[in-house]
Amino acid sequence: MPIAGDPKTTSRLALQLTRPLVLVGLMGAGKTSVGRRLAEFLGVAFCDSDAEIEAASGMEVREIFERFGEPYFRAGERRVIARLLEGKPGVVATGGGAFLSPEIRQNVAEKGVSVWLDADLDTLWARVKDKPSRPLLQRPDAKAELARLKEGRAPVYAQADIRVMSEADGTHDAMVRRILEAVVAHDRARPEETATLRRIARDA
Ligand code: S3P
Repeated sequence: MPIAGDPKTTSRLALQLTRPLVLVGLMGAGKTSVGRRLAEFLGVAFCDSDAEIEAASGMEVREIFERFGEPYFRAGERRVIARLLEGKPGVVATGGGAFLSPEIRQNVAEKGVSVWLDADLDTLWARVKDKPSRPLLQRPDAKAELARLKEGRAPVYAQADIRVMSEADGTHDAMVRRILEAVVAHDRARPEETATLRRIARDA
């Protein structure tokens, strides 16, 4: 007989992720920090495509750009993201330029659910301005470049399944909640058996 309060025998409702949640959007949108928190909440693995590329190559993204050029980095990004979309569904944070690749977009559309983390320019800029790790922003007019990227890429990010706006003063937990609400709303348009988030009874 279950003993009330015994963690081994009490069951509770949990959300089960049935396909990878893939975070897309510009540098500074919070894909890595929010993605990590989202994965923790769902009890699934978190992966960041930039970190995976760095681990595989033994170099920082900035160094890869400098030594081998952007096309080389993008080829690695396509391979890494294809691998991250396989296996047990988790949360995948992609580098800001990844979703520009038609191959990656198609792969994500087939295997996952894409979430565009959007934010206004000043919010993005405040988060990236003092970090030397973004090769595309190592230039004197970095903020103008970020604005150009934002404008140029918006129609592509808009192809994501879901868009969630990040507030300058919002917490990571508030973002996690809004992403989950948006995924549930997205699921409503799908038949029950293909829902991204399934409610299951899980032993606590
Ligand atoms: C890039 C974004 C970076 C990184 C690389 C290129 C881009 O990732 O992949 O510097 O093209 O926007 P973050 O969005 O995680 O900073």
